[in-house]
Amino acid sequence: MVTIALYNLKGGVGKTASCVNFAYLAAQDGYKTLLWDIDPQGSASFYYQSKPKHKGGIKKLIEKDADLEEAIMATDYENLDIIPADLSAKSFDVILEEMKSSKKRLKSILQPLNKVYDFVFIDCPPGFSVLSENIFNAADIVLMPVIPTTLSIRTYNMVKDYFKEKNIELSKMMCFFTMADLRKNMHNEIMETLYKDKKFFENYIPYLSDVEKMGIHKAPIETYARSGYAAQCYRDLWTEIKEGVLE
Ligand SMILES: Nc1ncnc2c1ncn2[C@@H]1O[C@H](COP(=O)(O)OP(=O)(O)OP(=O)(O)O)[C@@H](O)[C@H]1O
Ligand SMILES: [Mg+2]
Repeated sequence: MVTIALYNLKGGVGKTASCVNFAYLAAQDGYKTLLWDIDPQGSASFYYQSKPKHKGGIKKLIEKDADLEEAIMATDYENLDIIPADLSAKSFDVILEEMKSSKKRLKSILQPLNKVYDFVFIDCPPGFSVLSENIFNAADIVLMPVIPTTLSIRTYNMVKDYFKEKNIELSKMMCFFTMADLRKNMHNEIMETLYKDKKFFENYIPYLSDVEKMGIHKAPIETYARSGYAAQCYRDLWTEIKEGVLE
């Protein structure tokens, strides 16, 4: 089982859009895949049109150390399951409280799924918290979408520093560019500079309206714009990530 967390300290950079598409592509490749929507905004769950069976359910599971598998639901797609976001704010507080007691809590919660899934994708909320630290410890790859702007470089460096400070292996952190606009000189220059860091996948996701349309279709891009450029970019990037991860 390979656990990939879509994370960035910064909000609105394409974590959820990417998580939803990568999970779909992994499942389509035939891998048993789970998407855990751990962001209380519940956007990934919205795209998969999934709601938890019981509000507050996740709270019970995490609190009582019960079987996480009880929270897992099927999606409309083969090989793809989801743990939808628990939309009660109280549950999120409980999750944070639990994570406070151990930085490895999430890792141990995921342990029993090891034999069930090939890939687990976690859609993370932005920001640093005890939850993000738990996620970094649980994930094999912390996959960061980065928009090529000056502020994003700053954030990227802050995340790197956080890894060092918390003694988390920096090799886990991998990045790719999103919402790139190569007509902008700044985007080009920043990409050129950051590619030298060897933390970035070569393939990137441009700014494309097919990605935005996920909200209208409530589905991954492959299902409504398979022949478009956005779908092609996500497929190419997923292939590169998969090869990097499974090598
Ligand atoms: N490559 C892209 N081209 C155009 N629009 C995009 C692209 N990627 C994401 N978007 C749009 O940008 C917005 C933010 O994307 P998304 O929700 O994936 O970001 P996020 O990092 O998960 O945000 P949050 O921090 O709030 O969870 C959404 O409206 C999404 O449709
Ligand atoms: Mg999101």
